[in-house]
Amino acid sequence: MKTLASTFLGLMLVAMATVVAIARADAAAGKEVFQGSDCQSCHYTQGPATEKSIDDQLAKKGPELWYAGSKFQGPWLQAWLQDPQPIRPMKFNSVMEPNPGGHPALSADQAGPVTDYLMSLTSDAVKAGTVKVKKKNLKGRLIFIKKMPCSGCHQFPTKKKFSGGLSGPSLVGAGQRLNPDWVLAYLQQPKVFKPVKMMPVFVGLLSDKDMKNVAAHVATFK
Ligand code: HEC
Ligand code: HEC
Repeated sequence: MKTLASTFLGLMLVAMATVVAIARADAAAGKEVFQGSDCQSCHYTQGPATEKSIDDQLAKKGPELWYAGSKFQGPWLQAWLQDPQPIRPMKFNSVMEPNPGGHPALSADQAGPVTDYLMSLTSDAVKAGTVKVKKKNLKGRLIFIKKMPCSGCHQFPTKKKFSGGLSGPSLVGAGQRLNPDWVLAYLQQPKVFKPVKMMPVFVGLLSDKDMKNVAAHVATFK
């Protein structure tokens, strides 16, 4: 019996190690695809943030991806890489020109490993499980549409369709796209992610509790 149990345990361990090894291999393969597809000509993947001035920010051709694994949800990322629809209503780094779209797309074969690679890029500033997501967060909703100017800059879903301002990234579908714990970390420590900020800082304006409420509300956006 003992030998049978230990053989079984041994097999389990081998299987688990194989799963981990495959995940690592996929991330490594994804890194190769990322570099081979010229993605790094517009995105940097090595943290911490390097932008120090407005000029540094304007020199960037695309959003930084060094914390992509903390910011995004894997299934959304894998689907978006194959069919990249505009996220920002305006062109990146512009408040005047509309987003021209046309982001490079990856094949299904490439998107899997690239997702594994990007999901391996994380930030220690994001703590898992801090935002409790429920169907509704009325306090967060009030902050988003009334108490704070969030909705003046961000599109969000309404019963009819959607509403809101155009200067920030659209938050329509944010419940599938963004990790709520990252949204909280971003509100609490904006400098870690955006040392040159375009969005107002809410530290001191919103309590930690209210930041959690508003992050939980954003997580309900379909
Ligand atoms: C010519 C520059 C350019 C290249 C090349 C490029 N991107 Fe992008 N990428 C952008 C811009 C600009 C955005 C913002 C798009 C939007 O908001 O709709 C973006 C957005 C993204 C996002 C979402 C980031 C966020 O914070 O919203 C991911 C993920 C991404 N790109 C991955 C890739 C991958 C993978 C490749 C290579 C296959 C790639 N990009 C190639 C410019 C580029
Ligand atoms: C004056 C316009 C403005 C206001 C007000 C504003 N934002 Fe933003 N927000 C932005 C911009 C611009 C960005 C893009 C990041 C950057 O460059 O700072 C952003 C980024 C974000 C992101 C990340 C989206 C992504 O896909 O990268 C979230 C989440 C967010 N804001 C939530 C909020 C919440 C919640 C509030 C209210 C408490 C708020 N914003 C208020 C302009 C604004």
